[in-house]
Amino acid sequence: MWLRPLCHRDCAPLRLGAPLQLTASCREGRVSRCEIFLEPDIVVTVSVIEVRMLLITGASGRIAQRAATLLAQRKLGLRLMTRTPEQAPKLDGAEVFRGDFAVPATLDDAFAGVSAALVVSGSGKPGERARLHRNAFEAAARARVKHVVYLSLQGASPTSKYPFSRDHSLSEQYLAATGLPHTVLRNAFYLDMFLNKFDDEGVMCGPANETRGAFVSREDAARTAAAVLADPPGGTHDVTGLEALSLADVAVRFSALIGRQLHYQPESVACARKRLSKMEPDASRVDLSVGWFEAIAAGELEHTSDTVLHFTGKQPMNFEEYFRLFPGLLQPLRLGS
Ligand SMILES: NC(=O)c1ccc[n+]([C@@H]2O[C@H](COP(=O)([O-])OP(=O)(O)OC[C@H]3O[C@@H](n4cnc5c(N)ncnc54)[C@H](OP(=O)(O)O)[C@@H]3O)[C@@H](O)[C@H]2O)c1
Repeated sequence: MWLRPLCHRDCAPLRLGAPLQLTASCREGRVSRCEIFLEPDIVVTVSVIEVRMLLITGASGRIAQRAATLLAQRKLGLRLMTRTPEQAPKLDGAEVFRGDFAVPATLDDAFAGVSAALVVSGSGKPGERARLHRNAFEAAARARVKHVVYLSLQGASPTSKYPFSRDHSLSEQYLAATGLPHTVLRNAFYLDMFLNKFDDEGVMCGPANETRGAFVSREDAARTAAAVLADPPGGTHDVTGLEALSLADVAVRFSALIGRQLHYQPESVACARKRLSKMEPDASRVDLSVGWFEAIAAGELEHTSDTVLHFTGKQPMNFEEYFRLFPGLLQPLRLGS
């Protein structure tokens, strides 16, 4: 590495012993110009093209861990925020900060100096979650983060049948209200969500009728989130699988993979509520379970998109490719009677 001293035109460039690694940061997260004092009378000015720090929240979660691993492989500056640092992935060069959306004071350090942040939606009751996400967005605004990527849900709308989709819609509004540049990734329902929807007899009941959904794998959702965080495009994008499947299709495709007959049994909304209320005293949890199927029935998740291909350069995996790549995921379905 050569440094050009600015004192006189004829000063010889200075060869520095490699490797030279200097790091500096400021609250804007980007140092564009700095001076290095070699000796009292020699000052060199160095222009830094870009120093980036990417933040991923909820680092112990599945999507966050996978996205972080992919970005660490690209040697990008990475900070992981989590409520449980001991469960965060151990990745070379990644900083780990403790942070919880529910405790705003924990967020300022995590967001300081960050150029782009992936806010992974957290857990909580419908209504509460949007407030948690607002805490994260406001911390990003205080830290003047250059770009926020938010993991939302396909079909997010104030009128969705699924309570969490209404919550994501409100979260998106809170993000827009910060005025920060942002990208919203609206993930389709994960294919993985079906793994615990079949009962011991191999039947999945629910009021989704014959409507299809463009369900996506967690792997493709994580790959897309990583690619988008590294080079945020702005806008709102549905992140879907390659094809839209009915729940009967899902049962057939699982059956072929595990060699056991699974079935989808459509039922009315009223029947689903009655059945689930007998097992679940918390009415809001019943609303979530039934609303998940109702959103599919209403066609809120039926459209496929080319988002995965567009941002990752690879088509999303189809149903069989995904579960063959992660066969352990199928274990709960094999265990039924
Ligand atoms: N599209 C779908 O079908 C679907 C299905 C399930 C979930 N989701 C949403 O997608 C997100 C990512 O999915 P996933 O599979 O990675 O979920 P996951 O493995 O269950 O991880 C949950 C994540 O939420 C974070 N979190 C929870 N409460 C938080 C809080 N108060 N402050 C900060 N972070 C908090 C956790 O972070 P730490 O524990 O590290 O702090 C963790 O990363 C989920 O959190 C959920 O919002 C979507």
